[in-house]
Amino acid sequence: MNKQIAPSILSADFSRLGEEIKAVERAGADLIHVDVMDGHYVPNITIGPGVVAALRKTTKLPFDVHLMIEDPDRYIDAFVDAGSNILTVHTEAVIHLHRTVHYIKGKGVKAGVSLNPSTPLGSIEEILPDIDLLLIMTVNPGFGGQKFISSMLPKIRKAKEIIQEKGLGLTIEVDGGVTPENIGALAQEGADIFVAGASIFGSPSYIETIKKMKGILAGS
Ligand code: DX5
Ligand code: ZN
Repeated sequence: MNKQIAPSILSADFSRLGEEIKAVERAGADLIHVDVMDGHYVPNITIGPGVVAALRKTTKLPFDVHLMIEDPDRYIDAFVDAGSNILTVHTEAVIHLHRTVHYIKGKGVKAGVSLNPSTPLGSIEEILPDIDLLLIMTVNPGFGGQKFISSMLPKIRKAKEIIQEKGLGLTIEVDGGVTPENIGALAQEGADIFVAGASIFGSPSYIETIKKMKGILAGS
């Protein structure tokens, strides 16, 4: 697949979320990454399905919704109804992951599974054929603007190898501390979708930053 940029609105101006989404859409974003945090699974609270539903009207770009919440099964229907296109749950937060993944897919939405930096790939190997997207965290989830954990690079490579060995078509997404400086290395290891919050929304020009990232991806 073509490599894609997914700006994380966690680092956008929350008082102008609709405008911020339109700005990154104009700047060339491929997806909008929405970080949902509950103050339990991660030590931060962000937005819920009501805000996602309101934002749905501001763009045609797919919504890549990253659920960093305890017991996400309780909220899947709400986030599907709000207009999510990809729903990603954390394997560490779900008891019956196979059931959850198939429930999401049964709703006509792509199912993603995310792994924290300390969670081994082996914990999800058996479910790879069932999922659409594997989200490898390159920071500990909870906040934007954290430092990229470079020891995740071999994990991405290993995931890519396993996916190729199994002949699967699923997408690898990386999230946390992604910048124009490390995006090339992430692409080389096999990542397909690059979530970037602070490096886009904290930059003086969204269009220049996304253009720079895409230029690096095109050459990688
Ligand atoms: C971290 C979130 C990320 C975060 C990325 O818990 O899942 O999506 O917003 O932001 P940056 O790119 O600033 O690390
Ligand atoms: Zn995220």
